[in-house]
Amino acid sequence: MGRRALRKIDPDLDLSHHLHTLTELPAEQSLPELFDNPAAPLEVEVGTGKGLFMRSAAAEHPARNFLGVEIAGKYARFAAAGLAKRGLHNGVMLHGDGLALFADRIPADSLAAVHVYFPDPWWKKRHHKRRVMIPAFAKNIERALSLGGRLHFWTDVRDYFETALEMLAAETRLAGPIDVAGQAAGGEVKYHTHFERRMRLRDVPIYRAEFARG
Ligand SMILES: C[S@@+](CC[C@H](N)C(=O)[O-])C[C@H]1O[C@@H](n2cnc3c(N)ncnc32)[C@H](O)[C@@H]1O
Repeated sequence: MGRRALRKIDPDLDLSHHLHTLTELPAEQSLPELFDNPAAPLEVEVGTGKGLFMRSAAAEHPARNFLGVEIAGKYARFAAAGLAKRGLHNGVMLHGDGLALFADRIPADSLAAVHVYFPDPWWKKRHHKRRVMIPAFAKNIERALSLGGRLHFWTDVRDYFETALEMLAAETRLAGPIDVAGQAAGGEVKYHTHFERRMRLRDVPIYRAEFARG
């Protein structure tokens, strides 16, 4: 994702609570049990990158648990280190494929929210099938959300946004899009994710939508 080299991770930092590998998690491992308070509402971010959202959300909402899944090992590790360094035990990273996580590891009606921010655009039409916002994932999100649970989807790629919104309407019964434009406007600039920062500094428009399971 980023072009800048990642800062070095302190080799003495203990990542045993904050980093797991999806394919190495035993089949019977319950995801809430990865946290100190398994009864807290669980939110999942798919494609965390360097983990800015994970660490600010975990710090801001100590009574919720945040599980990040990131396919690139170096980013999963970096995001986990950011959580570990700050002692944020309600944030845990999984190194692995978010689509596989949703396909068979997340029980129905179990998530308070799913976050997908600036997923890789795969610009060429013939590569669109590699995008994460595909029908199978949308259906799995709908199944995984508890009643009233939210899907948050932001991107700077208009075509991706429009196609994903059409697909969500066709493939799921999620209510939305609930308009969240302007949420990040005005006042002190507080970036949600690294990509949001990058795009806003370049004045690139950002498309934001939220959906709810009714
Ligand atoms: C464009 S970056 C955005 C990162 C972050 N969400 C942000 O806004 O700064 C997309 C990230 O999604 C990750 N990714 C792509 N496909 C994925 C998948 N199937 N499961 C988990 N992560 C994925 C990439 O490795 C990359 O870190």
